[in-house]
Amino acid sequence: MNRGAACKHIKDKGHSLSKTFDSVFKGGTVVNQDGVGRGDIGVRDGRIVALGDLATADAGEVIDATGLHILPGVIDSQVHFREPGGEHKEDLESGSRSAIMGGVTAVFEMPNTNPLTTSADALADKVKRATNRMYCDFAFYVGGTRENIADLPELERLPGAAGIKVFIGSSTGNLLVDDEASLSRILSVIRRRAAFHSEDEARLNARESARREGDPSSHSEWRDGKAAMISTERLVRLAHEHGARVHVLHISTAEEMAFLAHHKDVASVEVTPQHLTLTTPEIYERLGTYAQMNPPLRDAAHQAGLWEGLRLGTIDVLGSDHAPHTREEKDQTYPASPSGMPGVQTLVPVMLDHVNAGRLSLERFVDLTSHGPNRLFSIAGKGRIAAGYDADLTIVDMAAKKKIDESWIASKCGWTPFEGRAVTGWPVGTVIRGKRAMWDGEIVGAATGQPVRFGEALARG
Ligand code: DOR
Repeated sequence: MNRGAACKHIKDKGHSLSKTFDSVFKGGTVVNQDGVGRGDIGVRDGRIVALGDLATADAGEVIDATGLHILPGVIDSQVHFREPGGEHKEDLESGSRSAIMGGVTAVFEMPNTNPLTTSADALADKVKRATNRMYCDFAFYVGGTRENIADLPELERLPGAAGIKVFIGSSTGNLLVDDEASLSRILSVIRRRAAFHSEDEARLNARESARREGDPSSHSEWRDGKAAMISTERLVRLAHEHGARVHVLHISTAEEMAFLAHHKDVASVEVTPQHLTLTTPEIYERLGTYAQMNPPLRDAAHQAGLWEGLRLGTIDVLGSDHAPHTREEKDQTYPASPSGMPGVQTLVPVMLDHVNAGRLSLERFVDLTSHGPNRLFSIAGKGRIAAGYDADLTIVDMAAKKKIDESWIASKCGWTPFEGRAVTGWPVGTVIRGKRAMWDGEIVGAATGQPVRFGEALARG
């Protein structure tokens, strides 16, 4: 498809058509709601104002994207950047550097920091720390607890809030709502879509003896598929009872995926690149405790179920669950070793490699990483390459052959479970509100991170 003829300028107050654009991204192959086709993108005041053939346009800067694909900015809707309280493993600045190095333009960050993000003050503190210090744009989930249920309708609509996050099963940090009565109360009060870590705490507690000292592979036996399924069934039942929208994070089992396909009216679904890519038992033999995460990595049969969910459209978004821990922490003997692995920087190359291998289309990738977050969370003005939207772009070289190398990782943790992986497809440019943040593997812009705005809280954002 050639959309060269479809050039349209948008006039708005104070701008003449002669000095038309601050910048033009030229000659790239644009992937958006129109499909895949050659076209230029005109940007003014940080927003997309024109699409089509802009060969003769007057622009402050012309960025040549010939031979490259231009995607809407990739939004990673699940990361843990550890600030405040865990800055030895990551902070908002270092996590965001890792994000833009990997082609990610915005992140939603999780509340299991120290202190927890469970109050308006804690949220405002994170927004203040992040603004103009993070390299990408951001929103923060507010943790739902038994104590703050009455405040959730107010908290979920505060500026910078991505919504409410609830840990139904315990993981890193001290957030846990494991009783049905409290979960039910949370679902009865929230109005936005809320996100859930879904593993059944009672079953996890009952099965603790399944953990074998020094054997991280027993992590997947302890936190078995049934623990995830029990919790997800309960969550969906309560969501129907209350007419609530639930976002079920990092689905790891084939059974949950098949079940969730029947409940798309209330439930949206996330998977991680690592659950789609790494399989047990092999991964524990290779990485030991570095492969330990919650919910755990699983075998090839579960992974096939996840890919089937991706093919059928059951999966709405990809999240990296970027959860860095230092090597020193990971080197402890299982089960003392913490769960979690970094991922914000490797999401794009790992998934582009799957695209090149024919496992999903580039359009489906965009659906999962831009259109999906835009739709689920009602993001205002991000997630599409369309006039009026922020000029957030992930520019990729689909033909680049590279090896993922730890020396490239900008996260403070300094390691990746994908070390040594040969991939085809690589992020070469990260553009945030019209400005290049990363180009050709170098950070080229200042840290100008701003809160993502949401349709359900516009007046406050
Ligand atoms: O493995 C995990 N690590 N899963 C989670 O849900 C939390 C995360 C962390 O914060 O380390």
